[in-house]
Amino acid sequence: MCGIIGYTGSENVKDVLLDALELLEYRGYDSAGIAVKDETSHVTNVYKCAGRVSDLRAICDSKKILSACGIGHTRWATHGGVTDQNAHPHQQGKVTLVHNGIIENYRELIADYDLQEILHSETDSEVVVHMMDYYYKKEKNLQKALERVITRIEGSYALCIVSTEHPDEVVVAKKASPLVIGRTEDASVAASDIPALLAYTKDVYFLDDLEMAVLKKDSITFYNKDGKEITKEMTTIPYDMEAAQKNGFDTYMLKEINEQPHVIQETLRGRIFEHSIVLDELKDVDFNKFNKVYYVACGTAYHAGLCGASILERATRLPVLTQVASEFRYNDPIIDEKTLCIFVSQSGETADTLAALKLANEKGCTTIAVTNVLGSTISREAQHTLYTCAGPEIAVASTKAYTTQLVLLTLIALYIADKRGDTVDTDLMEQLNNLPEYVSKLIDDEAIFENYAKTLKDKHDCYFIGRSLDYASVLEGALKLKEVSYVHADAYIAGELKHGPIALIEPGTVVIAVATQPHVAAKTISNIQETIARGAEVILFTVEGQEVSGVENIYYLPNINPLLQSVLVAIPLQLIAYHTACIKGCDVDKPRNLAKSVTVE
Ligand code: G6P
Repeated sequence: MCGIIGYTGSENVKDVLLDALELLEYRGYDSAGIAVKDETSHVTNVYKCAGRVSDLRAICDSKKILSACGIGHTRWATHGGVTDQNAHPHQQGKVTLVHNGIIENYRELIADYDLQEILHSETDSEVVVHMMDYYYKKEKNLQKALERVITRIEGSYALCIVSTEHPDEVVVAKKASPLVIGRTEDASVAASDIPALLAYTKDVYFLDDLEMAVLKKDSITFYNKDGKEITKEMTTIPYDMEAAQKNGFDTYMLKEINEQPHVIQETLRGRIFEHSIVLDELKDVDFNKFNKVYYVACGTAYHAGLCGASILERATRLPVLTQVASEFRYNDPIIDEKTLCIFVSQSGETADTLAALKLANEKGCTTIAVTNVLGSTISREAQHTLYTCAGPEIAVASTKAYTTQLVLLTLIALYIADKRGDTVDTDLMEQLNNLPEYVSKLIDDEAIFENYAKTLKDKHDCYFIGRSLDYASVLEGALKLKEVSYVHADAYIAGELKHGPIALIEPGTVVIAVATQPHVAAKTISNIQETIARGAEVILFTVEGQEVSGVENIYYLPNINPLLQSVLVAIPLQLIAYHTACIKGCDVDKPRNLAKSVTVE
């Protein structure tokens, strides 16, 4: 996830671009850059650096920049490290561009356009500027060149493009990445998100996928993918700047919950190709040499690790263990060069996970990091690193990072199974692609989960139960509830209820049960009856077709592959926690005593 901006108008574009990038910085903050047209020479000057927008501002402040047209970018790296060279804008010939998204087929394009020797950066985006330059030389028209480029690029993109030959023109296009366009009396502006536009206008246009627009100081012209001029309806934004930074949502947590269909899609992008999993980051690992696998993580990432471990164990029949990092590092684990250790961390900075990773490296294990932050310490320490594409997660309680971890860990499990010669479940592979749509439908049912949250409003305790893979889901559900709403929540293996926890059940106790795994669902449902008999108020999540009787609140999840149910059930459990916290008036984004990144032991 990156932030982009394009402006053409009457104001000094340097300030316009830098102010907008500051507002877009929540979308990415490892590098920033602008390209501005010099008013006299018409050359497009690029200023960019690894670091924050404030670092870029310092560079720009030392230059005399006079221009009223330009583009800008703040980066959340996905392809290529955090370096000045990989920062946007990218320039080739007369064309300069910024890109937000992932070009899936960039390797194929490098070959097709013979770019191997001439790329300056490691980014997928640079390929697009070379293609633009190629077609611009033929068409002499930016929009026509862009039209040809978008027929060839696959993946997600929002692009803002300028050329030295069209001094006051910015050309834009999008597919599966956001782009909003606004018009003021004397300027046209395009940006990844509404906050960056609100300083200028509340009247905006939303581009649909594969549409393009040509922005000039006094006009905007829209085109469909065939280059035919179209008209677009204007929308007036009904909220202010503060609300806009949360995309109109009241909190970052709710905004991030709602981003899950998109970020899951981004994490899957380019990873499944004709019944095989593409994880080039792991191509040098000999997976046949391992006799044991460890998943190591903290908090929510540990719960994702539990799911990943279970899927890997089933797929490979290798012994797989999951440990909390603070335990692993002090428990003298039995690990050596035949051990594969997978470290999961949203931030890539958690002190215990990092220490555990260093220990595994010292012991000669093969180490893989699954993280969300490019260039983070854990990503650098691990021998191999894979990134979730969740984008910056601001709310302390992890939501979109968790579900993207689940998705990436599933891909890794299938990849390892394939490389070891085990049979890979192709049905599971296909169903992964449907997850964004299912997640989106679950989010549509938010009102149902908000209603469930009302049951918890005055409760001190809530118990979560599940078996098998559902146990990891209820651990995460209980963590989410306690961290944001301060309701005491515990998760138990449903089969263990009668060995102690059932003593806690009394009339009015809320029990949230998850029974999505076909081989044990009926057993969990029997355990629910034991709690109902003692007066518990039960909320059950199970799958369509599962027989249940005597439970008042049942939500049926779509009957997809059981190994993917942890992604689905995460959504209602997040929304229950969220709404319970809201009803109780808690500070949802910054729960008391908690920190987003725990860099101390
Ligand atoms: C903190 C955060 C949690 C997170 C955990 C691990 O406790 O509040 O949301 O799951 O750290 O963080 P990591 O960045 O390593 O995933």
